[in-house]
Amino acid sequence: MGGKEEGMRLRYKDLLGLAHLTSEEIELILHTAAPFKKLFTRSIKKVPTLRGKTVAMLFYEPSTRTRTSFELAATRLSADVLSLAVASSSVQKGESLMDTALNLEAMKVDFIVLRHSVSGAPELLARGVRAHVVNAGDGNHEHPTQGLLDLFTIREKKKKMQGLTVTIIGDILHSRVARSNIWGLTKLGARVRLCGPATLVPADMRTAFGNGVEVTYNMKEALDGADVAYVLRLQLERQQENLFPSLREYHEFYGLDAKKLSWAKKDCLVMHPGPMNRGVEIDSVVADGPQSVILEQVTNGIAVRMAVLYLLAGSSSTLYVPAPEKAVERKAL
Ligand code: CP
Repeated sequence: MGGKEEGMRLRYKDLLGLAHLTSEEIELILHTAAPFKKLFTRSIKKVPTLRGKTVAMLFYEPSTRTRTSFELAATRLSADVLSLAVASSSVQKGESLMDTALNLEAMKVDFIVLRHSVSGAPELLARGVRAHVVNAGDGNHEHPTQGLLDLFTIREKKKKMQGLTVTIIGDILHSRVARSNIWGLTKLGARVRLCGPATLVPADMRTAFGNGVEVTYNMKEALDGADVAYVLRLQLERQQENLFPSLREYHEFYGLDAKKLSWAKKDCLVMHPGPMNRGVEIDSVVADGPQSVILEQVTNGIAVRMAVLYLLAGSSSTLYVPAPEKAVERKAL
């Protein structure tokens, strides 16, 4: 690895969000991911690092990228993977999240990767089990490994983070991806602009995240001088009320097309966490165009998740609460 991250460890046994990580811890994860990515070009893409460990996947919401990426990350570290099919499990008979997790722990799993619709569900688990809990997306709270893979991709392409302008477009209100990205980008010195309809971009985002975050409802203003255009999926399934008049109108004002992209810097990256609603928040000509790094984000996700599993396994910490001021030893429970 080299550099000031040499010998560093993560402070907590779990990864619940980026809000509670220091910039040094984020850098540690990104630096650790780089050599793992180099493995992908080899004919044998595996290392024995987590041999004998078991990673349980507990997904209460659908996923394509995060789930397969964690499975591949664990497999490439030689861990065993246990994928609980929630739809055909005893969850359907009313078993609680905590009881499900305690049963997995009784089977001696070492990691629980959890996706859940309730914000805070991973923190609840982290308090109750000894296993390392990794948040794979909780409600509209955080999706830390998505944030990390996005940071990794931006740094890889732009060779820096400090001073970049990253414009995040769309449904900020419901987006855990946006929240993890805002925490990560601002901690590493990027400027963040949020843009979308007023109903989907709460004005208090400016104050919630401190300096370095601007809010605008005008795409031209948002993209002017942008180094990255990060398009969010319109999360129709999370919207309880009509927050914009129609998909056609949303696309007209906020859908990223070639014309709107021309307002940004010539070498502006186009990013999207997936899954995409083509023709709604992003046009295919942009999503598949030369400035798009959307599929590279997916590749980088495996390396970043390998780094997260590797570093958590090496954290000797028993701390389970992310905020330092709240940190309590598990044995004190
Ligand atoms: N980006 C992301 O979380 O995608 P999935 O829902 O497919 O995991």
